[in-house]
Amino acid sequence: MADIKYDFGLVGLGVMGRNFILNVADKGFTAFGNDLDDEKVNALIEEGGDTQKVSASTDAAEFVNALSTPRKIMLLVPAGKVVDAVIENLLPLLDKGDIIIDGGNSFFTDTDRREAFLKEKGINFFGAGVSGGAKGARRGPSIMPGGSKDAYQHVRPIFEAVAAKYDGEPCVAYLGPKSAGNYVKMVHNGIEYGLMQLTSEIYDVLKKAGKLSNEELHATYAEWNKGRLQSFLVEITSEIFEQKDNLTNGDLVDVILDKAKQKGTGKWTSQNAMDLGIPVPTIDIAVSMREISALKDERKKADELYNRPTPNAINKTELIKDCEQALYFAFIMAYAQGMHQLADASKEYGYELDLGEIAKIWRAGCIIRAALLADITNAYKANSGLQNLLLADSFVEKVQSTVVAARKLVSYGALNGIPLPGLSNALTYFDAYTSERLPLNLIQAQRDYFGSHTYERLDREGIFHTEWEA
Ligand code: 6PG
Repeated sequence: MADIKYDFGLVGLGVMGRNFILNVADKGFTAFGNDLDDEKVNALIEEGGDTQKVSASTDAAEFVNALSTPRKIMLLVPAGKVVDAVIENLLPLLDKGDIIIDGGNSFFTDTDRREAFLKEKGINFFGAGVSGGAKGARRGPSIMPGGSKDAYQHVRPIFEAVAAKYDGEPCVAYLGPKSAGNYVKMVHNGIEYGLMQLTSEIYDVLKKAGKLSNEELHATYAEWNKGRLQSFLVEITSEIFEQKDNLTNGDLVDVILDKAKQKGTGKWTSQNAMDLGIPVPTIDIAVSMREISALKDERKKADELYNRPTPNAINKTELIKDCEQALYFAFIMAYAQGMHQLADASKEYGYELDLGEIAKIWRAGCIIRAALLADITNAYKANSGLQNLLLADSFVEKVQSTVVAARKLVSYGALNGIPLPGLSNALTYFDAYTSERLPLNLIQAQRDYFGSHTYERLDREGIFHTEWEA
């Protein structure tokens, strides 16, 4: 074994790592894994079959020595301190020119820090977001690399081989310098939060107002998945409604505790959007709803204190039609907000992002893959300087024809006590973004009134202050 030099190394043989490395081997590359856990190492060797193609070791030196140079080492370990610890461990064993790729959901400023630190040591480091979960890692994820373009060239053939394909094109592309890859993956996850929240709200309305059974919910989402809403999340949602519970033989979805956990990428997207001054309210509220969901005990107490209207009867067929339109409308808003954030971040951090290329590599493999992404790709390819998807001619009709259903559902939810915060935020975002005149002139007047903060005028240039008369 000592004489074989493997093409690709991977540290972290958890579910994602094991699947990714097996995918690499399937594509004809030799790959070597490393993990501290004996069991994981042995499991990979067993699953890999031929150790001339896939092997692994718990020993970092053996791992590093097994790789051809420049070494291409991908880390698929939990974001945070573990990444730094793995780097520290590998560093004395590496040679100048070797490449470390962080494939986890690392915070983008950590990637910038690590890149700068490793550059001084002659080691190339870049972040590459990987989306698609375990199945994606095994069969074809969407991969979002950034960092040094030259270093990426060494990894490119492997990434292009393992990535998901859309119309034969690999869902991977070099996205830009520094932490561009991790940043894009972070916003991908923010959009993911938005889409998931919206999908769950529509389930709530269909269940509470339309009284749809799980079987009908399954059929409805499955039907939608054949049309313009076709997407990974709609597809798995339809399947979720079919799943039986082994313990009770009932439907699994009904016994799952309604507290959604989070690892932080959605929150980071929101926080960073605030820093940039870019509104992403559908993503913000998706994060807030996970926080509200966590307050189960308080919600239970409050539920007993307040009366809630009993939802009015509603025509089921019409409701399903409205839900399809409203969900499509709100999905567009979630993507529009995320893309807007990317456009601004690109300028702020010098990423030089090509938004059309990003939408393109999201068309397959990743969690937010959707038919809509082909349209988004085309919109940005037609105008790479597009400030917001809502300004694309090709989206006007899509939005115009579905916003009415969103209005109907938001007002139905408000009147009947069904919380639809993602949908109403998407609608409010649309209404505000498409209003030439907003009432924020009054806020400027108030600021000037109490704090002499000055204001600008519609009818002439300059900065003004008024001595407001009490
Ligand atoms: C992906 C997912 C993946 C992970 C989420 C879960 O693209 O494959 O986004 O990265 O499943 O980060 O995030 P939460 O635990 O925060 O929901």
